Amino acid sequence: MLSKAIVFVLVGGAAALDNGLAKKPQMGWNTWNTFGCNINQQTILSAAQAIKNSGLINYGYEYVVIDDCWSVKSGRDGSGNLVADPSKFPNGIKWLADQVHGLGLKIGIYSSAGTLTCASYPASLGREQQDAKLWASWGIDYLKYDNCNDAGQSSQQGNINRYTAMRDALLSTGRPILYSLCNWGVAQVWNWAAPIGNSWRMSGDITASFDTANGGCPATGSGGYLCSIMNILNKAADIATKGGPGGWNDLDMLVVGFSNLNSDEQKLHFTMWAAIKSPLIMGHDVTKQTAATIAILTNRNILDLSQGTWSVATRTYVRSNIQLWQQNSPDNVDRIVIVLNSGGSDQTLTVPFSDIFVNDSGRQAATYTVTELWTNTVTNSVKGQISVTVKRHGVWVGRFHPSGTVSTSSVSSRTTTSTTRAGGTTTTTAAGGSQTKWGQCGGIGWTGPTTCQDSTCTYSNPYYSQCL
Ligand code: GLA
Repeated sequence: MLSKAIVFVLVGGAAALDNGLAKKPQMGWNTWNTFGCNINQQTILSAAQAIKNSGLINYGYEYVVIDDCWSVKSGRDGSGNLVADPSKFPNGIKWLADQVHGLGLKIGIYSSAGTLTCASYPASLGREQQDAKLWASWGIDYLKYDNCNDAGQSSQQGNINRYTAMRDALLSTGRPILYSLCNWGVAQVWNWAAPIGNSWRMSGDITASFDTANGGCPATGSGGYLCSIMNILNKAADIATKGGPGGWNDLDMLVVGFSNLNSDEQKLHFTMWAAIKSPLIMGHDVTKQTAATIAILTNRNILDLSQGTWSVATRTYVRSNIQLWQQNSPDNVDRIVIVLNSGGSDQTLTVPFSDIFVNDSGRQAATYTVTELWTNTVTNSVKGQISVTVKRHGVWVGRFHPSGTVSTSSVSSRTTTSTTRAGGTTTTTAAGGSQTKWGQCGGIGWTGPTTCQDSTCTYSNPYYSQCL
């Protein structure tokens, strides 16, 4: 049972909700982008079975989320409870939850912090305790909570009040229910949602388009629909660091597997959603997916950007069609460097280390082994600069691992400590004294020791688990 006391941890400088969930960005699937309102119990069962059969379950995709349109549209029952539409869900949601749980997956449901949902079904404003209790009794594990029909409570305080009421209702059920806010970035949700929810949508609704401008989706600001990948990404750049364990920026559902995006575009999208640590909620038809789609969604190197211990990616620069993004390892030794090309043709460019290790002459002077994470191409002894070719609408993703000693110029007092890490012995320079605790081994599929103070994390893919 969850403690009814609300506990907070720090995320992006703010106290975060600690309901024990979403320590890493949540992963799963949602009905909306493929099926809209055309859902029934078979839609959910087939998707859950496909997530299991395709092996996606083994990579962390665990929540199967029923979006809008699941209840009787005309209203509640005589006791004021929401009712699952018997024509769509003849066996009820509790039965469905049991089936999904039986496959080793978790189940999510949807409502709005308003008088009606976005598709005009009954919603939960003022009914938070009753609805949360009902969902808990059904075995629900996840709530996506939308923002339609807000009864005029659209100010920042109105938003805080509406979303806090459901947080408290979910907590008071005693059941761990991941709380996914969906207010489309209204009232700068990233500035206040960390103590309230496990994730918060920061933009309007995504569509499977790389960068087509659509009048329905503003270039800046909140809300909208038919938002492209680049539209959402550029909005996320300013607020990326607001997310952290327990509470994440939600860039909306994945559009991997939609045929109007080519393979490079899908890889760029998946890389960036992983690196910024958005929830990874698939939206394609998992019952009809291709091997190419599964290969993108299960790339362990890229999944590790999301589920591993790397920092949330931040943007170092945008120059015309080229963007440079980076993630750090917790000990600040290894780097992920993402070069993104949003332009209309392939580009080969040389990136000087002064653009990567900005104002850090020690790291600029070091020599690196660089692994491109989509191709697993390893280049040794890289010094001073790196030349990369980035496909049109594609990314180049390099993991930089220093060889030998790196003396950083960004710390004033340091002690050199040696340890053995996956992939070889590295001498690192730590700030302010010797490091005695190295932290955790981890990553999806990791079955080795959980701490590695004196040992090494190893894994068939050395880039997946790290001794930090
Ligand atoms: C809003 C949300 C979508 C989806 C629909 C359902 O537009 O942002 O993700 O849940 O409502 O009506």
